[in-house]
Amino acid sequence: MGKGFYISNTVGIIGIVLAVGALSTITALPAAITSLPTTEPSIEPWDQFRLPQTLSPQTYNVTLWPRLEPDPTGLYIFTGMSSVVFTCVIETDLILIHSNKLNMTNPPILTALGSSPAPAIALIVMHPITQYMAIHLTEKLIAGESYELYTEFLGELSDDLGGFYRSEYYEGGVKKVVATTQMQPTDARKAFPCFDEPAMKAVFHITLLHDPATIAISNGVEIDKVDITVDGTLVTKTTFAATESMSTYLLAFIVSDFGFIEQNIDTLQVRIFARQDAINAGQGQYALNVTGPILKFFETYYNVPYPLPKSDQVALPDFSAGAMENWGLITYRETALLYDEEISSNENKERVVTVIAHELAHQWFGNLVTLKWWNDLWLNEGFATYVEYLGADNAEPDWNIKDLFVLNDVHRVFAIDALASSHPLSSKEEEILTPEQINELFDTITYSKGASVLRMLSSFLTEAVFAQGLQTYLDYFKFSNTVYTDLWEHLQTAVDNTGTSLPKTVREIMDRWVLQMGFPVVTINTATGDITQEHFLLDPETKPDRPSEFNYEWYVPISWTKKEVEQPLYWLLQKTELSDKMKIIGDEWILANINVTGYYRVNYDTENWQRLLNVLQTSRQSIPIINRAQLIDDAFNLAKAGIVETTLALRTTLFLDSETEYMPWESALDNLNYYYLMFDRTEVYGPMQTYVGNQVKHLFDYFTTLTNWEDVPPGHTDQYNQVNALSVACSTGLEACTTLVTTWFQKWMNDPTVNLIKANLRSAVYCSAIAAGGEKEWDFAWQEFEKATVAAEKDKLRAAMACATEPWLLNRYLEYTLDPNKIRKQDATSTITSIASNVVGQPLAWDFVRANWEYIFTQYGGGSFSFSNLINGVTKRFSTPFELEQLIQFKNDNAHIGFGSGTQALEQSIERTQANIKWVEKNQQAVLDWFNNPS
Ligand SMILES: *[C@@H]1O[C@H](CO)[C@@H](O)[C@H](O)[C@H]1NC(C)=O
Ligand SMILES: [Zn+2]
Repeated sequence: MGKGFYISNTVGIIGIVLAVGALSTITALPAAITSLPTTEPSIEPWDQFRLPQTLSPQTYNVTLWPRLEPDPTGLYIFTGMSSVVFTCVIETDLILIHSNKLNMTNPPILTALGSSPAPAIALIVMHPITQYMAIHLTEKLIAGESYELYTEFLGELSDDLGGFYRSEYYEGGVKKVVATTQMQPTDARKAFPCFDEPAMKAVFHITLLHDPATIAISNGVEIDKVDITVDGTLVTKTTFAATESMSTYLLAFIVSDFGFIEQNIDTLQVRIFARQDAINAGQGQYALNVTGPILKFFETYYNVPYPLPKSDQVALPDFSAGAMENWGLITYRETALLYDEEISSNENKERVVTVIAHELAHQWFGNLVTLKWWNDLWLNEGFATYVEYLGADNAEPDWNIKDLFVLNDVHRVFAIDALASSHPLSSKEEEILTPEQINELFDTITYSKGASVLRMLSSFLTEAVFAQGLQTYLDYFKFSNTVYTDLWEHLQTAVDNTGTSLPKTVREIMDRWVLQMGFPVVTINTATGDITQEHFLLDPETKPDRPSEFNYEWYVPISWTKKEVEQPLYWLLQKTELSDKMKIIGDEWILANINVTGYYRVNYDTENWQRLLNVLQTSRQSIPIINRAQLIDDAFNLAKAGIVETTLALRTTLFLDSETEYMPWESALDNLNYYYLMFDRTEVYGPMQTYVGNQVKHLFDYFTTLTNWEDVPPGHTDQYNQVNALSVACSTGLEACTTLVTTWFQKWMNDPTVNLIKANLRSAVYCSAIAAGGEKEWDFAWQEFEKATVAAEKDKLRAAMACATEPWLLNRYLEYTLDPNKIRKQDATSTITSIASNVVGQPLAWDFVRANWEYIFTQYGGGSFSFSNLINGVTKRFSTPFELEQLIQFKNDNAHIGFGSGTQALEQSIERTQANIKWVEKNQQAVLDWFNNPS
């Protein structure tokens, strides 16, 4: 899946009872099928979350008929029939097949495909917790024989964003309903009975019945389309070509009246689907333009042809994740696929191209070759997250997009992986069993740390050797399943074949990054030549929650320069080593971890830090742009951990008064944001605002001269930094800025038919104007939000409305998040999080989350991204003993409801609050003094 806000349906007994109850009003359960609550854990196979290895599916024939009109009771449903052919591997008198929230409308039928007859069905029991249908037979199935199981069923086409679900929108005043799917990780079983594990690959024959006015698409190409009459209703029956052998979680089927545009690249058909209005407005064009080149790029990179005859990509109005890599039919939320030349920003464009590259990368890595079980999810997602930059760079070579990896992924995950409550990339297979445990894996560690260590690996092997190992891995394992060490073996072969020199095997090196959590800080003492490594913990008083078989030591590849001269890679293999080369003579200086290709932080002796600070202020071009950002980020975090003085960190921002590059600025603003969170309710706030305001003045003037706030700066990252200049100048009260912004917004309010605010600047302008304004501005923004037809524009307004400063406006806005007619379910938690990031909104959001916990949890608790984001978001400002007490109280009060995929986030919040309390106590005075007299 692509990163993004991820909400999946709740998985729990309450939801099931409700669904079954609702459905049984329309269709009676056949007598032979009973629903028994699962009892205490036991060794019965149906009480275990993993399928037994007794049966192996070969092919499925699935026909589904979603109803896009509600039935007389107001319920949206789908009906279906499915037959699965499976081989008996080990003799058994039990068929366990996943089935969740499906109502069998006729008793299942078992037939034998071999010579001996099929045993009779004795009893069928549904197990809602483990999500099985258990079919007990009178006699055993015979090993080596094949059988066919036929089922007819009915399910709810609900709006819960999981399994087969519905999405709604209005077009020309008419309500439109889409039937669509999100199977990953465990919801294919909500669409039809299936062996729903990634290693249970099979060939799928999909048929959809639908209204003749709609179109149906699925993983395979359409091979037949006829109108038929079923139960007195005229429907179109669309049949799709058999899929390749694939995992259930990659299935997709969609019925809609979407429009599409297409392009043929050689024999490959590429199509982009979306709401007709969006397609007619040209919003799919950018996606169509970049898809072909990116597919071609990956064909070359993987050295394996794209395995399917077509690639469809669909933008959905309601979608839980950012996107989903279903094989041949990729689904997206609208902001991740649609782009409007006039209205979308360059950030929106970057998101589209990177998410497309991510999902296309999965078509091979993940889809063609699939990890055996979810415990290895980090390799699947980490890999796609790393190579999405390569694919996007190929499509937009002028952007230097690969550089941004350091800000977007490395720095982002460092913040989490430096906590004692972090966790290793790799989990044990037997520890990941339930849907909740699987969902919880979709986190920042999986995506961003996974990507960071693979980037490090690719860097020290060289991209060519990395690609070679990857190519043989994909070729060797195509259409089957692997464990992550299979990739290490193929990379090792590439290393051996090319004579690449490594101090250890690929596996020995990578084990330390994959099996133990966290990362090291490497300290280089340029006076003595000592190099040491230590597990980096943000709160030095904590101890890691778990032991490590490697004692929290790593094999660290250190790239470094001595006074701008690149040196050979240094491998740190021990806790402490001595190297004369790292000693300094005269005015030399050492810089390590060039371009942050290594997943570690770097510290130096005070003298080398001083020399680096001097270089930053006098000749910063001697230090690569990425490392200017790194020096700031390392210094701030080392200071937070008490390893260097806080004033040293603050001094790394002094050179910004002449810096115009985006990466150092963004890194500084990220880190200063923590100071704002800790201090914007204290006396530090005033002097801090003055300092930051002084630093940004030059940048604001620079962009005024360059663009006069009319032109778009030529460089991609310059466009980002123009936004920084504007938003920081305005938030620190620079009058030239606030006047500019309020004037623009006022003009728009005076004539809502023309919005002349530049696309890139809109987020910043809307936020500043709404913060400076009141009810009138807010209500105007709300009207525009409701009217907007470009999802990216809607998102900007939605975020900006959280910038209001009147508590009642924010409270009303919080209430809106409970009403899906106002704020779509997919956007609810991110809206609450935006409100919490506003100093006025934070306590309101916290009260709101506490008051509505049960509702929020049952609506969004099964998901992952958004849910841990929510908990982290509403608590990130916490820094007083009173807030800590409230947090612990919250944990105790709601233990009976649970925290689902936010469980770890809650622990991390408690740990972070404790660290914040100590940090503020220790540093407030020094920070105040420094801001009063910065030097
Ligand atoms: C560091 O990154 C910059 C910008 O992408 C690049 O030009 C430079 O070659 C890189 N340096 C090294 C040593 O790889
Ligand atoms: Zn992914």
